[in-house]
Amino acid sequence: MIYGLTNSKGGVGKTTIAVHLAAWLTKKKRTVIFIDADPQSSASQWIRELNLPIALEEISDPEKIIHRVAKLAADANDIVIDGPAGLSTTTRAIMLRADKVFLPCGPSILDLRAASKAVALLREAQKSRKGLPKGALIPNKLQKRGRLSREMLGAANKLGIPLLSGLSQRQSFADAAGQAKVVWGMGATSLLASHEMQQLMKEMTRG
Ligand SMILES: Nc1ncnc2c1ncn2[C@@H]1O[C@H](COP(=O)(O)OP(=O)(O)O)[C@@H](O)[C@H]1O
Ligand SMILES: [Mg+2]
Repeated sequence: MIYGLTNSKGGVGKTTIAVHLAAWLTKKKRTVIFIDADPQSSASQWIRELNLPIALEEISDPEKIIHRVAKLAADANDIVIDGPAGLSTTTRAIMLRADKVFLPCGPSILDLRAASKAVALLREAQKSRKGLPKGALIPNKLQKRGRLSREMLGAANKLGIPLLSGLSQRQSFADAAGQAKVVWGMGATSLLASHEMQQLMKEMTRG
């Protein structure tokens, strides 16, 4: 399975979710290749420091992504691609290669509207690939214990894209990279974060 994390905006949780997904898949005994497609390469250091059996490649050139992913697909159970912010040709390349694309977005209705540009790009890719990649929005940094407002649900409905349960705003998520850990390795103070993240991982890998 090839997973892509993309969105038009930065700071929405692409890297946080991509790194956790890769770590979670290794916990499920799957072989995983992680492609850091963001030239800022913030995921790469985190992945290296986790010391998990995750093969890491840093490729931000769109042509190279297209060729390399096709080649690598036979070498692992799963490929996780952490995309850059923006609707660049790199983001397009990810959408042309992934089986599933996830669009993390901020917690407000404005963030959701901003994500509509990425949804439009996704639709383009789906047109040329007989419905692939599958796509879903991931609301991140939610207040009120992760509950989604009715407005959020309505807006996602209008965009015609599934909405996953999402993540609350939590210090543990913000601290994980600095501690070179994932939230389920951070002990008792991160139990709620761990529970939320694992719930999200289940939804992302389902079906
Ligand atoms: N649910 C969350 N709660 C608190 N902080 C978060 C959460 N998700 C992400 N962050 C923090 O927000 C910042 C941006 O997240 P990141 O995953 O790097 O986003 P992106 O890759 O989309 O730019 C990081 O400092 C990260 O630790
Ligand atoms: Mg990032």
